[in-house]
Amino acid sequence: MIVGAVFLIVLLPDFVNGRSVVEDSQVKLVIFGEGRCRDTTYFFKWHLMPMFHLFGINSGGRLSIEYHPFGVKSSCVENSKGEVSCLCHHGERECLLNSLQACVIETLPNFLDYLEHVACIQGRENITDAADSCLHDPIFKQKMLECGNSNRGRKLMLEKHQKVQEKLVDFVDWVPWISINGERDKNAEDDLWQFICDRYLKPRPEECPKRICFT
Ligand SMILES: *[C@@H]1O[C@H](CO)[C@@H](O)[C@H](O)[C@H]1NC(C)=O
Repeated sequence: MIVGAVFLIVLLPDFVNGRSVVEDSQVKLVIFGEGRCRDTTYFFKWHLMPMFHLFGINSGGRLSIEYHPFGVKSSCVENSKGEVSCLCHHGERECLLNSLQACVIETLPNFLDYLEHVACIQGRENITDAADSCLHDPIFKQKMLECGNSNRGRKLMLEKHQKVQEKLVDFVDWVPWISINGERDKNAEDDLWQFICDRYLKPRPEECPKRICFT
């Protein structure tokens, strides 16, 4: 009876506001990275994607992930004719990978849809290799390649990623650069899942490591 009463008190404000408890505790991740950056590739392979897979469909409720293929020492500028040119930290090949990722994100705006593709493109040799390895539907692949190689892709990098970076952050000096609920903490770059489990996901999901490291 006492347990029941406590339960009601905790949940009542949420029912009154018409919001669900899950939405209230959603953790918002905003991540910046670079297509040819080894640390970004490592982060995708060993941290972000294992976490995403482990949490599976629950990701949509408990986490929101926003990925921006735009890193340090990168910049896009638009001339008076609307032509965008970009410089990327690891050169032109990286610009094209970033641009391809930007096109995929634009086309499949929900991270549950785009993240696998973006992770697969990450770290590839070049845009052709990325498209061949990661975009299996022929029509989708052709559309994404056209976009990635074009002014449209560069414009997306400028409008949807560079501008967001400029708005959110004074100075990105490292990628992967991760903000959690609007705040950057370097710890998240070392052990994202553990860090989110310890500090942000309440109640702690079953999928989390049992041990608490970040108190
Ligand atoms: C792209 O990468 C693939 C795979 O490594 C390689 O075979 C191909 O020659 C590269 N293409 C260009 C244009 O560099």
